[in-house]
Amino acid sequence: MMIDQGTIERVMETANSQIVDVVSEFVSLKRRGINYIGNCPFHNEKTPSFIVSPHKGICKCFGCGKGGNAVNFIMEHEQITFPEAIKYLGQKFHIEVEEQEVSPEQIKKQNERESMMLVSEYASNFFQKNLNETDEGKSVGLGYFRSRGFRDDIINKFQLGYSPEQRDALTLAAQKEGYQLEYLEKTGVSIVRDDYKADRFRGRVMFPIHGLSGKVIAFGGRILKTDKKTAKYLNSPESAIYHKSKVLYGIYFAKQEITRQDNCYMVEGYTDVLSMHQAGIHNVVASSGTALTIEQIRLISRFTKNMTIIYDGDAAGIKASLRGIDLVLSEGMNVKVLLLPEGEDPDSFSKARSEEELKKYIADHQTDFVKFKTSLLLEDAKNDPIKRAQLIQDIVGTISKIPESIIRSVYIKECSVLLKVDEPVLYAEINKLKNNRLATSTPSPKPFEQNQGQASAQTALSASQQVANPYDVEEREVLRFLVKYGEAIIETKESGEEITVGRFIISELRQDDLLSINPVYNKMLDLYEPITGNTQSTSLKFFINNPDVEVGQLASDLVGKEYVLSKIHHKFGNVSVEDDILHELVPKTVLELKWKKVKVLLEDKRLDLQKAQNNGNDELLMEIMAEIATWQQVLAHISKELGGRTIV
Ligand code: CTP
Ligand code: MN
Repeated sequence: MMIDQGTIERVMETANSQIVDVVSEFVSLKRRGINYIGNCPFHNEKTPSFIVSPHKGICKCFGCGKGGNAVNFIMEHEQITFPEAIKYLGQKFHIEVEEQEVSPEQIKKQNERESMMLVSEYASNFFQKNLNETDEGKSVGLGYFRSRGFRDDIINKFQLGYSPEQRDALTLAAQKEGYQLEYLEKTGVSIVRDDYKADRFRGRVMFPIHGLSGKVIAFGGRILKTDKKTAKYLNSPESAIYHKSKVLYGIYFAKQEITRQDNCYMVEGYTDVLSMHQAGIHNVVASSGTALTIEQIRLISRFTKNMTIIYDGDAAGIKASLRGIDLVLSEGMNVKVLLLPEGEDPDSFSKARSEEELKKYIADHQTDFVKFKTSLLLEDAKNDPIKRAQLIQDIVGTISKIPESIIRSVYIKECSVLLKVDEPVLYAEINKLKNNRLATSTPSPKPFEQNQGQASAQTALSASQQVANPYDVEEREVLRFLVKYGEAIIETKESGEEITVGRFIISELRQDDLLSINPVYNKMLDLYEPITGNTQSTSLKFFINNPDVEVGQLASDLVGKEYVLSKIHHKFGNVSVEDDILHELVPKTVLELKWKKVKVLLEDKRLDLQKAQNNGNDELLMEIMAEIATWQQVLAHISKELGGRTIV
């Protein structure tokens, strides 16, 4: 069953308009002017910095930046999914959440998934019972866990189990209970061939793998013998309910603490997670021995933007895994690294220490990823100039993946010291990389189509190639006007046609092909375009209540920023001032964006010029110089309109 769009919109509209009521259930709020204020539920604080605006239907924390509309708040606070939040709010405001009929195809899929979930749950209970209640389980399985020092509360919390030696113990028991062989096979707990059926995990201790909502979706089974021929761990195969690349072991038990600590520890294996929990550290998940995937990173980034990767002291694979971490950076996460002493893994290390000692060790020894990588590679390169050059390329490549320009500049500063290379050189390298990325993704555009070519080439970049958005500040400011004043009229043509802020912005951006490299930004334009003529409904409501979660979140982010701004300088926060001069402000803001675009384009052209110079390609040189001259004129023109700006 799915919730239909109309219901979603009704619930969001109601909940956002009564956001004070929604938040009040979890936060004690006090009135402050037109807003309400309280202690942020997402981080520990003594002075309240969590603001709720009933007028805008959003909430936001100055401290940690968390918040959004009512639905975002409930999702974040209760750690639940979008549909779950809608159901919750529907109940609260007595709105019947109608669910839509789904096709027989979808029903079959849904039923299949549900059956597989049930089988997994049964199997998990079966393994757990076997571990705790049978002689074989107690002596072999429980004996093993205890010999490794796991406490009973941990064994129970993680629902550890034991799969008996008997070839088909689980399969037979499950069938007897009415579970169908089809689903036993599909979940992978049974292996079925013609007239042969067997348990996949026989004779192993079992680690159930839980999905985000706590349901068992797969298993890892560890062998007990030290048999070199059989793999130490056997895992469930991929299935309709288990996609290895999207799952992190321990996420269900960690998610609340990850939010609370605003940090997530990443370890390698099942036993590492268990031991850390046993030591009192709960914000920990395991990648299960494989390279991190983009989906796993996004899963974590729903709860925090900070990650600490813990490496075994003898990890041979550190260098190989460095590359994967670029992916984490490109998702905008802050990454730290903790290298354990030689011969230790999180399991052994945390067992030998108290919670206090462990926390202190982590705090004292974790280093920033970029620094870590730089020093690690620097050790290798020593004074070999070629290796050093490669190293610089490598580090610069890593830094260029970081989407936030401010954070990038901090790293450039640090690396400049570590590598003993001047900052401008590093910046130039980053620009070169950026150019190369653009060049390889565009079939070199004709000189004067460059303006259009650039924008669309950037839109076409895939997520992994995405470069930082150099126009982010300007684009966000334009979008803020769209969200806040979309329906306001800034001009009435002689024909009587009324130009709204929304129509103006969208037509300006489309006309010059100024689409963003950020797909969410473009989505906002696409969504709003059909209703630009509508001066009745408010764009603020449209965006904040938007069923597209990304859009709703961005919208509340954009208007939420004002609180911060108004704190800094009052005149910008004063709504009535901005309101009155929209006819000036909006065109000016769009122009600022254009100015930035042309400026970046010019910088790129200058680099091209340098390249052509170095290659002694005179013909190209002349061509580029002509282009630069033209773009300089354009820039001068825009600058004049903006009221004089020095051209650099
Ligand atoms: N792994 C796996 N298959 C293997 C080996 C490892 O799936 N043959 C995965 C498991 O998720 C394991 C993780 O990689 O937990 C880390 O491997 P390793 O460090 O070898 O295992 P530990 O968790 O340390 O297990 P133990 O302490 O029981 O040896
Ligand atoms: Mn290990």
